[in-house]
Amino acid sequence: MKKVLINVVHPNLDTESRVNKALVEFASKESNVTVNNLYKKYPDFKIDAKKEQELLLENDIIIFQFPMYWLSSPALLKEWLDVVLEYNFAFGENYKLENKTLAVATSVGSGTAQYNSNGSNKFTVEEFLNSFEATANYVKMDYKNPFITYETFVISDEKLQETAKEYVSYIKDLTK
Ligand SMILES: Cc1cc2nc3c(=O)[nH]c(=O)nc-3n(C[C@H](O)[C@H](O)[C@H](O)COP(=O)(O)O)c2cc1C
Repeated sequence: MKKVLINVVHPNLDTESRVNKALVEFASKESNVTVNNLYKKYPDFKIDAKKEQELLLENDIIIFQFPMYWLSSPALLKEWLDVVLEYNFAFGENYKLENKTLAVATSVGSGTAQYNSNGSNKFTVEEFLNSFEATANYVKMDYKNPFITYETFVISDEKLQETAKEYVSYIKDLTK
């Protein structure tokens, strides 16, 4: 079975998260899924690049899961990209992530009415994630359509449970 690594990037997953916490709880029940909580591991932003690279090599499918902050990811994911995707590991002489899958699972407070060319955010969530798609392309990974949870400020408990189950199906589809 293909192995899935979820790099979850939420500054307060245990204490303040509702949406990402629920998604992680459901996904982590799958035997082929490893959850890597980056803010818990690296609260000081001192990322162990070699350790993170080893985790990437051990898995076939990499998911970046995060709440959208200022139309992008929380800051630690940017730092992670900067230090982990090293020259001669991710690109250059070696493309060690070549043919692995990259996907993003993000949650947003706003709805689709805001995330379009006529809305206050002007672009879709998929468009805000363009840099992840381009990064995947640069390191020869296979980028998949993101899993997006909208309207997190008002999502009901029932809808959240349903969304968490859909997330598990989404992950299973990635492994096919
Ligand atoms: C610093 C910060 C910035 C945020 N920026 C955005 C944003 O740009 N767009 C948006 O739709 N929601 C934004 N939000 C709302 C979060 O995306 C939302 O609270 C989160 O997805 C909920 O997930 P959680 O329950 O796991 O924390 C922001 C929240 C915070 C704290």
